[in-house]
Amino acid sequence: MSADDNRFSSRSEYFESLEDNPVNPSCEPTLGDIINRRFSRRDVLKGALGVAALGVLAPPIPLVSDARAMTKPVGMSKGRFSFAEIAHGVDETHHVAPGYSADVLMRWGDRVTANAPEFSPQHQTVAAQLGQYGYNNDFVGYVPLPFGSDNSEHGLLCVNHEYTNEELMFPGYGPHDETFSRMTKAQAEIEMAAHGGSVIEIRKVAGKWQVVADSKYARRINALDTAMNLSGPAAGSDRLKTNEDPSGRNVVGTINNCAGGITPWGTYLMAEENFNNYFNGSLEGNPEKANYERYGVPGKYFGWSRFHMRFDLEAEPNSANRYGWIVEVDPLDPTSTPVKRTALGRFKHEGAESIVNKDGRLALYSGDDQRFEFLYKFISTERVDMTSREANRDLLDTGTLYAARFNDDGSLDWLPLVHGQGVLTPENGFASQADVVIETRRAATLLGATPMDRPEDVEPNPVNGKVYVMLTNNSNRANVVDAANPRAKNIWGHVIEITPPDGDHASETSRWDILARAGNPTRPDVVAMWNSATSENGWFSCPDNCAVDPEGRLWVATDQGGEWYKTSGCADGIWALETEGDTRGTGRLFYRVPVGAEMCGPRFTPDGRTLFVAVQHPGSDGTKFFPGFERSSTFEDPCTRWPDFKDDMPPRPSLVVITKDDGGPIGS
Ligand code: FEO
Ligand code: CA
Ligand code: CA
Ligand code: CA
Repeated sequence: MSADDNRFSSRSEYFESLEDNPVNPSCEPTLGDIINRRFSRRDVLKGALGVAALGVLAPPIPLVSDARAMTKPVGMSKGRFSFAEIAHGVDETHHVAPGYSADVLMRWGDRVTANAPEFSPQHQTVAAQLGQYGYNNDFVGYVPLPFGSDNSEHGLLCVNHEYTNEELMFPGYGPHDETFSRMTKAQAEIEMAAHGGSVIEIRKVAGKWQVVADSKYARRINALDTAMNLSGPAAGSDRLKTNEDPSGRNVVGTINNCAGGITPWGTYLMAEENFNNYFNGSLEGNPEKANYERYGVPGKYFGWSRFHMRFDLEAEPNSANRYGWIVEVDPLDPTSTPVKRTALGRFKHEGAESIVNKDGRLALYSGDDQRFEFLYKFISTERVDMTSREANRDLLDTGTLYAARFNDDGSLDWLPLVHGQGVLTPENGFASQADVVIETRRAATLLGATPMDRPEDVEPNPVNGKVYVMLTNNSNRANVVDAANPRAKNIWGHVIEITPPDGDHASETSRWDILARAGNPTRPDVVAMWNSATSENGWFSCPDNCAVDPEGRLWVATDQGGEWYKTSGCADGIWALETEGDTRGTGRLFYRVPVGAEMCGPRFTPDGRTLFVAVQHPGSDGTKFFPGFERSSTFEDPCTRWPDFKDDMPPRPSLVVITKDDGGPIGS
């Protein structure tokens, strides 16, 4: 960590701050520039600034045209959410709206596979962790059982474990230790075992969810020893070959599995996000140097390269090309080999949510989470076959990957990343489609895609055909400094809604609009945009994950990192966000995480009566600003011991199940 790293309360904060370092050399206007051009001085004067000066909540600010503007306060009509919201705040535990229960279902260290031992944080072993629930749960998927049903009381949970917080996992590490010169091989491998994913069979019994013991589906996927295949255009490329794998088709492990998706044929997609941070070694003389620098490789965060040469770029110069993909796992077959689908591109994939398009093909959306990186979609060549899972086995290997260009007039162009088309030619260093997908970022830059404010989850809405894009923040836009450009330092993020024409996700054009500009609407300098029906608890900052419930309503999970005290003063959580009618743009706070945690997951059962959420790194972020604690958390001295609250148990990332006490739909 660098000299000024005592800015951070924890290594986790530092880790996630690495996403803030832009590596995109593109000179295209940023999304912020475009928003600001569409957001005229006249609108500012009659909109947020004028109203905020009167001391009331700001109404939405017109961005498209006066005809579409919502300039008068609304809130008279009833929104689609009727739960009583909870208050902004931060404390040692979690909170859910009145009339709901939030129960912890799985915690880091809980048994997943039949042979796993009881968790003992003082006596961790690699073998134990390989069978236990991993660290930092993030994506949550639900596959009903039997497959093909919409059973909302029995199914498989597919959960990603994004990364590890050593200072909270192991005794003896301070928050700012050097990159683990002291870490043992066993500790490094426990971390590797705590990465990846878990497949867990669950069943609702007498109204409460339980884990099915000794399930035949139970599986841990990890960064240490899970064998995987590479498929699609980059499989077998010379640029993917290593000493360990001269074929360029077999790879061990998956890393930094952030969000993901469940396909219509019931497979589990794990997105590899900040893969760069796992690599060490000099790039001197490495022919991949320019490619790696575009991805921030080597990130030199973890110390695994001391023990495993696939993370040492001097020993394995091509190894970093084998990560940064979407991994497809069949959770119904625990013996299946996960496959990295290279046709979906290589970047810091936040997630991989998909929808069957009206023509039967699959449309899959994925954001590249780094400042000034792009939004992508993939359209399969073949149609999804809902009569045969097997028929879709390699569907993700063939199709067209597109990057998004957001135009000033509210239109959007999807730019195909196809070798031989336009600038993606040998003259520009692309000898084949393998090169295009390995260097997805450079290809998209050359095509003129729009650099964004860190795209996180992207979720298609099957009810209304729209697509929601969470943009978490970007305080780094340098060239936007006047009243017409009020979000030059966008530390609050925003939500974009994309409307494909006639609901056709395969179209190469779309429309886009801003659904909410996050942040405090009572502060004129924030220039937030919310419906005026939004209460003092209903606004949020830093949208990250999201979910669409079975009624087509949007739920947003936040990740403010260590800046929570600055961006909202409230812990992260889940907010319902109205998308339709007079209440469009109204937020409402439903669930709040313990101090230092980030909100991940959200996933509904098909009946909308259960909401699964993942509480990531409790006790970690921004604890220096937690009143009464005001220091960094460690294993010995954490700011919360949620969810166990036992003196010998550190805080544990956990999966939480939310149900309504009367059994009704969530949010009703
Ligand atoms: Fe892993 Fe972009 O959050
Ligand atoms: Ca995320
Ligand atoms: Ca995030
Ligand atoms: Ca995270």
